[in-house]
Amino acid sequence: MPRSTRRAQRDQATTSGGAWTSALPDRDRPRLEVLPGRLADVLPLEGVDAVAVPVAPPSAGEDVVEPRPGAADAAVLYGIDLAAVCERLEVRGKAGQVVTVPLVDVPSGLPGRLLLVGVGDGDATDLRRAGAALARAVRGRERLVTTLAAEASAEGTRAFVEGLLLGGYSPPRSGVTDGPKPGPRQVDLVGRHDEGIVRRAQTCGGATLLVRDLANTHSGVKDPAWVADRAREVAAREDLDIEVWDDQRLRQDGFGGLLAVGAGSASTPRLVRVSYQPEGSGSLEGNGSRDGAPSPKSVSRHVVLVGKGITFDTGGLSIKPREAMVPMKTDMAGAAVVLAALSACRALGVRARVTGLLALAENAVSGSAYRPGDVITQYGGRTVEIANTDAEGRLVLADALAYADAHLDPDVLIDIATLTGAASLGLGRRHAALYSADDRLVTSLETAAKRSGERVWRMPLVQDYRASLDSDVADIRHVPSDKKVGGGSITAALFLREFVGSRRWAHLDIAGPARADSDEHEITKGATGYGARLLLRWLEALR
Ligand code: BES
Ligand code: MN
Ligand code: ZN
Repeated sequence: MPRSTRRAQRDQATTSGGAWTSALPDRDRPRLEVLPGRLADVLPLEGVDAVAVPVAPPSAGEDVVEPRPGAADAAVLYGIDLAAVCERLEVRGKAGQVVTVPLVDVPSGLPGRLLLVGVGDGDATDLRRAGAALARAVRGRERLVTTLAAEASAEGTRAFVEGLLLGGYSPPRSGVTDGPKPGPRQVDLVGRHDEGIVRRAQTCGGATLLVRDLANTHSGVKDPAWVADRAREVAAREDLDIEVWDDQRLRQDGFGGLLAVGAGSASTPRLVRVSYQPEGSGSLEGNGSRDGAPSPKSVSRHVVLVGKGITFDTGGLSIKPREAMVPMKTDMAGAAVVLAALSACRALGVRARVTGLLALAENAVSGSAYRPGDVITQYGGRTVEIANTDAEGRLVLADALAYADAHLDPDVLIDIATLTGAASLGLGRRHAALYSADDRLVTSLETAAKRSGERVWRMPLVQDYRASLDSDVADIRHVPSDKKVGGGSITAALFLREFVGSRRWAHLDIAGPARADSDEHEITKGATGYGARLLLRWLEALR
């Protein structure tokens, strides 16, 4: 098909329904307000359709659920016997249980729906789950008032708000019939809440939703140029510097990995660089931090994030089996995470310089596709013997990593990629595989993982397996020659390591957690957005 026809078709797909182009910015995000005070001071309030209050499981030796902040107030306002209602409706207080109290007559001016929401132990994980369950329960409603996080810790508040934003997500959709409605348009958080924490949660939840929107967009719309355009929008809105390599520039500069992987597609590859400079770190050296205190060192720190951006992975000539190919529109989730992380740096006041590299290509099947047996030249000149065109992610990443090492002088280099099915064989679908030779970097990422609820597990860079990447005809192979070696996620990491020079480096294989087959707690079916909150937690902690 001629390129112009393809473009015309895409433009049409883009305009019909409008959902695909309006994926950015901030599609379907609820407004959040903090209303200090008690429920009884705040209500009645115009246009509210639901009130949600927390209940916890009975404490040891008791058998009635415990009212949490606002629950007793609500019982008085609505004139109900809370203990009796909980008993009758089998309210247990387990995190994520949401029960609607049947109301015979609603006192005038009060919202028509009263929800009891289980908060379990009230720790961050339970509050995240409670938030997600609540958002699902009030899908399609206009305005919700809740006291769920009124006495929570900062971590608890943050988790609750993130859960609330994430649980109510519904993917961009086109068609003549309606899909599921998103969570409520507005949520009022009643009680004392740290406003700064609420805004951080909103920023990080929003970044996750951006990843979901980008990764859930189908590949009839989403090609490398489309993703680069979304990056331009984000950069303009967030005041980030941006540079885009089209295929001509990629050729001039020798990005042989991106070019080889993209060669079979009618849509040409792109490399995108997006850069964030903290305020006060411009050309004036050591000009101080945001609060005016001198911080000459912190502003000179440079983090480079690299994301795999395969906008569709057919496997190329080493074609995937049909069922395995279906979800491959999400194979750019790593690049989406990098873009989303950059989009949130300014709102979070990240103190380091951060540069994102999005390595974008479509791995297609055609007469111009790269072949098993080909030898390609990566950015920087290293040659690679191709054995399996379905191992394309490491080739586009190698170009970007080598570029970062050669030109960006990173203090820390982190890549994130839906790289290998093997990563999820050992760890399942809820942990990312983390590789790094740097113990301190691993510890700091593990801490960020615990806080964000996006879990990682450290895997070994087994030196003995490196020999399986030796090639007779090139500097290196990209997949092992010896089938006995196994460890597909490890050998992929060993290949990447060849391109990071002597930089402090970590690799996150997110092939498992980037996608889910069904809704669960804050996770929604399809692209999960995994990685944005993890990386942002890590960036926020940098001094
Ligand atoms: N995008 C896939 C990895 C993947 C698989 C992500 C399943 C999400 C779910 C990657 O490009 C790939 O095809 N990897 C191969 C590597 C192999 C050919 C060495 C794999 O995992 O089978
Ligand atoms: Mn592949
Ligand atoms: Zn892939």
